[in-house]
Amino acid sequence: MSTQIVNIQPLSQPVNLGVEPATFSPEVEAEIDSHIAKYPVLRSAILPLMFIVQRERGYLDPAGVLYLANRLKLRVTDIWEVATFYSMIHVEPIGKYNIQICRTLSCKIRGAGKITEYCSQKLGIQVGETTADGKFTLTEVECLGSCGTAPMMQINFDYHENLTPEKIDQILEKLA
Ligand code: FES
Repeated sequence: MSTQIVNIQPLSQPVNLGVEPATFSPEVEAEIDSHIAKYPVLRSAILPLMFIVQRERGYLDPAGVLYLANRLKLRVTDIWEVATFYSMIHVEPIGKYNIQICRTLSCKIRGAGKITEYCSQKLGIQVGETTADGKFTLTEVECLGSCGTAPMMQINFDYHENLTPEKIDQILEKLA
């Protein structure tokens, strides 16, 4: 018996989810075009385009997802699969500063749990929450590849390593 794979959404047609796809300025469209031009296969541009949509819209909202699906001729589920795999892609609104504390083995045995608890107390939020002023989101992520400087965290695109409560104080004061 052979298995037939069926595409639910014909890829040659625009996806209709009942929301309008996001629109962008000519400058942003040109930036998107320049990334697409780098890849021989259209879908390979998915990550750079996701970063642009996220940067422009704050997070990857349904309209942004729809834009990507149409632009890359993919199913919405293809976009979601990638978006939900990477911790640096956000499918819900997040704070201006996304504090991502590594919870994997090296960081864990070097006190990541206490660092998370300290941040949580200091900011008055639990993991997964955002401060009322929209400034900080606290998250836990898997290994960020900096195990030799554990415990560590990433805030937006910056690494902060060999963390202690004192270092956390300094970092958060700078960002506040
Ligand atoms: Fe934390 Fe690798 S275990 S960076």
